[in-house]
Amino acid sequence: MAGEDPEVGDVQTRAGAPVRPRNDPRQYDDLADEWWRPDGVFAMLHWLAAARAGLVPAATRPDAVLVDVGCGAGLLAPHLAGRGYRHVGVDLTRSALAQAAGHGVVAVNGDAAALPLADRCADVVAAGELLEHVPDWRAAVAEACRVLRPGGTLVLDTLNDTVLSRLVAVRLAERVRGVPRGIHDPRLFVDARALVAECARHGVALRVRGIRPAVPGLLRWLVHQAAASGSGPIGGAGDGGAGRGRRAPRIVPTWSTAVLYQGRGVKRG
Ligand SMILES: C[S@@+](CC[C@H](N)C(=O)[O-])C[C@H]1O[C@@H](n2cnc3c(N)ncnc32)[C@H](O)[C@@H]1O
Repeated sequence: MAGEDPEVGDVQTRAGAPVRPRNDPRQYDDLADEWWRPDGVFAMLHWLAAARAGLVPAATRPDAVLVDVGCGAGLLAPHLAGRGYRHVGVDLTRSALAQAAGHGVVAVNGDAAALPLADRCADVVAAGELLEHVPDWRAAVAEACRVLRPGGTLVLDTLNDTVLSRLVAVRLAERVRGVPRGIHDPRLFVDARALVAECARHGVALRVRGIRPAVPGLLRWLVHQAAASGSGPIGGAGDGGAGRGRRAPRIVPTWSTAVLYQGRGVKRG
């Protein structure tokens, strides 16, 4: 498929990595050493995890459980520290789960479309940057809602199924140094209205809002990425990750859900 539509053809996530079909989960193994580099190719996942954690309510009972579907390497974990949750992460990718476990996550290997968890076991279900990677996002939503207890909270963020989203998240973003190529298959992007309707079918009244990186922080980050180009790894051993707090852009609400959006909803109960 290489050489056909660049939005759907096979790609290389970075130089030296194997050529893979878009959204091939093996890409997360290829990029396993990138997860916890604050300025690495998953930098934006760090920013989004901080924003997602802001939607998680305070735990209302001892032993409260937060199920993090598609947890990756557990980037949400530092933002939940001291919040009273047992953080259970489910993911397809074992190399990511091993890293999540190292950050205190109870790591479970499984598919978002068939969670190996009991009904109503979770006080909170988080699904950050997951649904746009799942071939059947409706099945993943049904599962997230199944494991959520009545009165529990669903929090998520994903990419909308729009022309603008394809342009920004695939065609433009993949030209930026430090953004992996081929991690998204835009054919899997999730229409926000359809997602709200699907959650409602499963008893969760989801409210969505558009989000984006704050412009000054994003510009600083892009300048830093450009300046660091060719000068070796950034945010790793070289600067001890010291740039994280100073440079990490904040994720802020925006008026349009056309590209990236967050959702939060409580399950009827
Ligand atoms: C973009 S990453 C997001 C990771 C994490 N939620 C975060 O925000 O840092 C997508 C994650 O979803 C996982 N994933 C993709 N499809 C999945 C599926 N069907 N079931 C479970 N995990 C899946 C991948 O292995 C990867 O770790």
